[in-house]
Amino acid sequence: MRPEGRGDCLVRPMCPEDTAEVGALEAVCFSLPWTDGLVSHELTVRGSFSLVARETLGGPVLGYMVFRVAADAMDVLRLAVLPGGRRRGLGTELLFEGMRRARALGAAEAFLEVRENNSGARIFYEKAGFRLVGKRPGYYVETRETALVYARGLMDPGGGPGADASGRPGE
Ligand SMILES: CC(C)(COP(=O)(O)OP(=O)(O)OC[C@H]1O[C@@H](n2cnc3c(N)ncnc32)[C@H](O)[C@@H]1OP(=O)(O)O)[C@@H](O)C(=O)NCCC(=O)NCCS
Repeated sequence: MRPEGRGDCLVRPMCPEDTAEVGALEAVCFSLPWTDGLVSHELTVRGSFSLVARETLGGPVLGYMVFRVAADAMDVLRLAVLPGGRRRGLGTELLFEGMRRARALGAAEAFLEVRENNSGARIFYEKAGFRLVGKRPGYYVETRETALVYARGLMDPGGGPGADASGRPGE
């Protein structure tokens, strides 16, 4: 399915052939990147789902997301867009497609952790309707940074850029 959005974006389940591209994206986007091995291992984890975003069919992977669904909860583990692809709606497309899929699997609420100093990601998630529900001091052991815990209901359309979790980002 081609999600609607402000740009031309294709979000698809990740396949093993995407692993090297996603590993390279991890290295660029995160201070503690997952290795190619971790990225491909995640594809084998029960209840875990990985999505990739492209702007054209067969084009380069510009963004990706990993989430897990257990019982009625969705846990967003990774979400990143290459620097050159940011602020074009790809992160939003990935997030809302992930939420739509998690809801179809029975999840009623989504959770995620963000580094306290990651102000760009915090604004991004708040715009997508997530609210701050807790703090975990020292969660990132290598830097002792605090993790902020965000949550969002998947059943209600509240919050965000006029969006719901049906896969339709807002205006
Ligand atoms: C967070 C991230 C995934 C956002 O991806 P993106 O494709 O740029 O997001 P979108 O284009 O869908 O942004 C939607 C809105 O979020 C907000 N936003 C996104 N990035 C922002 C930033 N750096 N600063 C302020 N607001 C931001 C804006 O309101 C934006 O709308 P606008 O461009 O019309 O102003 C991307 O910046 C990224 O990969 N960061 C590094 C990895 C990371 O921190 N991941 C999240 C923690 S796991």
